Amino acid sequence: MSAPPPVAMLAELTHRCPLSCPYCSNPLELTARAAELSTEEWADAFRQAADLGVLQLHLSGGEPASRGDLEAITAAAAEAGLYTNLITSGVGLTEARLRALDAAGLDHVQLSVQGVDAVSADAIGGYRGGFERKMRVAGWVAEIGFPLTLNAVMHRRNLDRLEETVELALGLGARRLEVACVQFHGWAAANRAALMPTLAQARAAKALVDAKRKDLLGRLVIDFVPPDYHAEFPKACMGGWGSTGINLAPDGRVLPCHAAETIPGLRFESIRDRPLAAIWADGPAFEAFRGTDWMQEPCTSCERRGRDFGGCRCQAAALAGDPAATDPVCSKSPLRPKVDAMIAEAPDDDAPLVHRTPPASA
Ligand code: SF4
Ligand code: FES
Repeated sequence: MSAPPPVAMLAELTHRCPLSCPYCSNPLELTARAAELSTEEWADAFRQAADLGVLQLHLSGGEPASRGDLEAITAAAAEAGLYTNLITSGVGLTEARLRALDAAGLDHVQLSVQGVDAVSADAIGGYRGGFERKMRVAGWVAEIGFPLTLNAVMHRRNLDRLEETVELALGLGARRLEVACVQFHGWAAANRAALMPTLAQARAAKALVDAKRKDLLGRLVIDFVPPDYHAEFPKACMGGWGSTGINLAPDGRVLPCHAAETIPGLRFESIRDRPLAAIWADGPAFEAFRGTDWMQEPCTSCERRGRDFGGCRCQAAALAGDPAATDPVCSKSPLRPKVDAMIAEAPDDDAPLVHRTPPASA
């Protein structure tokens, strides 16, 4: 089966990052700086992506501003004709760098926040002064005129402040707010007990988002990634494996999703060894869970299989020990009681957070 082209590519420019969030989505094994693709290798990757049909490019990390050549990388992406979105913590950006990125053709900025005030946000990010810097970056973004998305990662310790998060987004002039509840893969798994939202929080967050979407129609778009442990059915992770998105790791390995390395036994090819289009078309990691042929019961005979594609492969690997299993958050999964037991664990608001270590500065 020949796969239609991906719409979006996530370029993880580096794993280096000044923050040490307890839900860091970088892999447990970080790519060293010396192994990162060079500016010219990234430029070639972007040309290949555009030829393949990719329209949107997310420049991410780690912290992409940790790369001194971010401006040149952005210019290469714009030259390739891609719509460019910078996903940043803001740390490492100055007004001069943002103006240079504007001149390089950057289209959009997505700024992450760890909380709505300096004390709580800096405690999560593990970086004193981080919140203050982000607020300055948001001011420059507005002055320059970049469209802004505020990306708020939510969990038990900040979900009760969702309304203030919406106010913060409005105050900063964001056009879009992404409320993304922590996915407990990789490093975040160590903080599941400390950060898992309660059922009451999950319900209240959904109700608040529904109400705010109505109130703020035309002013602020709110994307909501709910805590999927509380859902009846899983999300179509990545819109279905190998169907719409492609990830490029800092060293050029091509991944079907950002957490794919947590799945044991998958073989990832590198853009250094094989063209992107060929990897997308028939690379073993992409073929592993594309479509529905790989599924097991109850997915095989389920009417939702073409909608959610059995949920998240990384979650199935983590919780079921089998990446081809039905995502255990699905109410039809025989392992759903295991997820219910995790939700039922008494919340421990005093549990110490395990921050990302070593800092992603390798
Ligand atoms: Fe989706 Fe599989 Fe659950 Fe059906 S059984 S809802 S296809 S995860
Ligand atoms: Fe990898 Fe969901 S995060 S498939």
